[in-house]
Amino acid sequence: MSQSTVITVAGDEPYDITVGRGILPLVGEALPPGARRVLVVHPPTLAAAAADLREQLTASGDRQVLLAEIPDAEQGKRVEVAAFCWQVMGQADFTRTDAVVGFGGGAVTDLAGFVAATWLRGVAVVQVPTTVLGMVDAAVGGKTGINTAEGKNLVGAFWPPRAVICDLDLLDSLTDNERVAGFAEVVKAGFIWYPEILDLIEADPVAAVDPHSDAFRRCIELAIEMKARVVGEDLREAGLREVLNYGHTLGHAIEHAERYRWRHGAAVSVGMVFAAELSRLAGRLSDAAAQRHRDILELLGLPTTYRAGAWNQLLATMQRDKKTRGSMLRFIVLDDIGKPTVLQAPDESLLFAAYQEVGE
Ligand code: GLY
Repeated sequence: MSQSTVITVAGDEPYDITVGRGILPLVGEALPPGARRVLVVHPPTLAAAAADLREQLTASGDRQVLLAEIPDAEQGKRVEVAAFCWQVMGQADFTRTDAVVGFGGGAVTDLAGFVAATWLRGVAVVQVPTTVLGMVDAAVGGKTGINTAEGKNLVGAFWPPRAVICDLDLLDSLTDNERVAGFAEVVKAGFIWYPEILDLIEADPVAAVDPHSDAFRRCIELAIEMKARVVGEDLREAGLREVLNYGHTLGHAIEHAERYRWRHGAAVSVGMVFAAELSRLAGRLSDAAAQRHRDILELLGLPTTYRAGAWNQLLATMQRDKKTRGSMLRFIVLDDIGKPTVLQAPDESLLFAAYQEVGE
């Protein structure tokens, strides 16, 4: 399987997500033809790779390519970091026909997308995710943003990219932990949309997370396909897109309780077991389907339990979560595998009972 795969995201301005190997030369082709200045936003760990990308982009077109190195992870999603990028763009006389490239994990593509969305009220962005999480989630779908002292992603814009280039060769530099944690979002796609992903993991969990296997590539492509379909139909999360929050309501509360030292995927893993138990106790999901969550996540080495005594704190955080509508808590639950739906304002005793199944 060496050919690239192209998945198109529908919408007012459709764009392609290309998955393949050795495809960084496509970044230059994806830039707007008139872009004379390009800002490549990258974390320190990708400094050498970003310099190579700059050389490639300079050689393949008449353009000035600037590098903006930003701090890793959530430290990069601060307004000061966005201001640094705006300063670089201002000093280089960036115009509305110029472009930004987000080259890194989810935090980098979120920040790069936000900078692109805000510079001169919006310039093109090409996203080049370098992590599993970035490829299947963060870089696809146009959610961009930064954090504030009050919480994560409170400031941002829906700003779809011009293209997303997923070069699987970039995943070789990730640790096993990083890759497997990112895979939690792939498992989510299996539970809410494409059960084939679950079958592939059960058939060979080692191959499923090995970036050189056909199973891994199939899982990644299915997860991207799912996200492309959902955001193609509902960019602004007016309805369908909410299903992507499966496992995230409790997951975000766990990340908050852990002061973001847990990986997002690990927290979502526990959150999915909770959501499955909530679905089961609400009489929607079978015992076997709920158990399948634990089995698959454990096969991958992802966590499925959390501190039993943390419930009150987690509940309070969930109640403050920005995704709560009005004052009502909303959870994505399953009527069956592949059939997500919204459960609004469940009884607190039901939530507590579901948490008992997760608490250790
Ligand atoms: N990561 C969830 C979304 O893109 O809506």
